[in-house]
Amino acid sequence: MPYYSSDLIEEVISQNDIVDTVSEYVTLKKSGRNYMGLCPFHKEKSPSFCVSMDKQIFKCFGCSEGGNVISFLMKIENLDFWDAVEVLAERANIDMSRYVVNNYHNKMDTAKSDLKDRLILLNKEVGLFYHNNLVELLKEEKNDVKDYILQRKFDSKTINKFGIGYATGKIPLYDYLLEKGFTKEEMLASGIILENSSQRMYDRYYQRVIFPIFDIRDRIIGFGGRALPKNLQDKRIPKYVNSPENDIYHKGRTLYLMNFAKREKLDNIIIVEGYMDAIALQKFGFLNAVASLGTALTENQARLIKKYTDNVIIGYDQDEAGQEAIMRGLDILANHGLNVKVLKLDRPDAKDPDEYLNKYGPERLKKCIDNAISLVEFKVEKLEKNYDPENFDSKVRFLTGISSILSKIDNNIERDLYIDKISKKYGMSPGPILQEVEKGMKNKKASEVQIDMNSLNKKMQLITSVRKRQEQYIIALLLSKKKKIVDAVFENVKSQDIDDENVRKIYDFISSLRDEYDINKIDILSKIQDEDMIKEITDIMYIDISGYEESLLQDVLKNKKKEKLFARRDEIIERLNQDISKDEGEILKVELNQIVIELSRLK
Ligand code: UTP
Ligand code: MN
Repeated sequence: MPYYSSDLIEEVISQNDIVDTVSEYVTLKKSGRNYMGLCPFHKEKSPSFCVSMDKQIFKCFGCSEGGNVISFLMKIENLDFWDAVEVLAERANIDMSRYVVNNYHNKMDTAKSDLKDRLILLNKEVGLFYHNNLVELLKEEKNDVKDYILQRKFDSKTINKFGIGYATGKIPLYDYLLEKGFTKEEMLASGIILENSSQRMYDRYYQRVIFPIFDIRDRIIGFGGRALPKNLQDKRIPKYVNSPENDIYHKGRTLYLMNFAKREKLDNIIIVEGYMDAIALQKFGFLNAVASLGTALTENQARLIKKYTDNVIIGYDQDEAGQEAIMRGLDILANHGLNVKVLKLDRPDAKDPDEYLNKYGPERLKKCIDNAISLVEFKVEKLEKNYDPENFDSKVRFLTGISSILSKIDNNIERDLYIDKISKKYGMSPGPILQEVEKGMKNKKASEVQIDMNSLNKKMQLITSVRKRQEQYIIALLLSKKKKIVDAVFENVKSQDIDDENVRKIYDFISSLRDEYDINKIDILSKIQDEDMIKEITDIMYIDISGYEESLLQDVLKNKKKEKLFARRDEIIERLNQDISKDEGEILKVELNQIVIELSRLK
């Protein structure tokens, strides 16, 4: 990526009205000078998400997310900074090349992003190439590929929507891409072309149905290729071949078809294992289906999901391996605050959602989805598999296991309901289960000392918040764009006078901007990229001090003076308590007297 001048960012911000941009995602209602809506970044029932037309910023007073139009797009679309700038520039028809600065080059960075751009282009070209192959083959009367596509019930709408293709392996991609202007290095970096020990170039995908993998912005970042059934008779051939990790494809950060799912209003997301499952679900109208592509769920994927919804249903294969994978994924998802349920297919002869849909249809699958079981039920059912009611040891293990699961439930009512349900289901008396659960909860108590510390911290926060407000006023004054006020603040307040870390960081940042800019003329927010600082400064921007700048400045200066006097007073009192000469004592007492008078005058 080239280096762009900061004018580009200001241009992008000024050409994309934040109210318009946010309105594409959130229903906003005008309320005075602001617009209010339900925050898209956390679940809420009454609106605390506020967009300011004048200041061109947003702020959620519930979850404290905030920022300008760029930060909004980054958050809602899960983009990095420059991707968001690019999208907004495109929308506003801004020619980014006009803002390229040539004399300021970080060569390594530039080379890396240039390669990323090239790989995206290359993938696009290859995706089209494979797709056209398939379209041509389907025009023929009959062939293996067409048979397979028909057998899997892919209609042309599905093939087009998901860019499905076919790698014949007949026309070497290497030559094709050379002709399109790509270099050997770029091809190797993409992983689509491989080089053997005698330097011969060959295709990774040969006789495979191709599924392009998209990122959240609909760009192809990799491919998966499925072998035709006839080739699978050779046991050495893997069913699927996937793109390797490279500069643009990171398995653990991607969820297949999330780019489509995220366009919907999502009550929940269904995560399945495979390409075929996600495609089949979306084809039958379950537009909230995404696939983890056979790998263990990662923290990154959990965060990605959390951006769009709080509720997840895991629809993995019903076999042992699939169930084990669910166990591993459950806690990662739950730890990110997602409500997790597990899909159970009610027919043993359909091992995954794709098979189920094709055998029993969408209505019946919908029922299974509605009946998805909770995390607790899933864990209990799993225990049950090894449970032998005739065997004493097994019974004890089962009971202990259940108690351990139940003692982790925080909600008392929910916990009691489960105890009731489970004791009935397994014909046990609830008493002993309850006792065990309570024992488990006592053990948990030990770790709750920690939680008490947290509430203590909260109280501390309340005490410091008055002081923090004072410090926020200092920044508010710096943002006033009034030269006299700003200069006075800088002259009288220094960085070390500010206790709050984020406020101090903002102070330091604005102070550093003064070397390069007239800070009364620029958009300071647009120059900040640190998340904590953005949250803090948008908070401050909502404090309306206009018309009060002068008196607020006096207030800040007065407080500053008071603090100094208090500090000196304490120093003197301490000194007076020590063994000092009579003369010194007299002098100090006079000074102390003056301080007390002055302090009472400042009140
Ligand atoms: P499955 O074996 O369940 O495949 O693997 P599937 O998606 O149901 O495909 P069909 O219906 O048999 O055609 C689930 C996922 O695991 C990954 C793929 O992402 C696949 O979709 N996988 C599987 C591989 O990466 N390589 C393999 O050899 C097999
Ligand atoms: Mn399958």
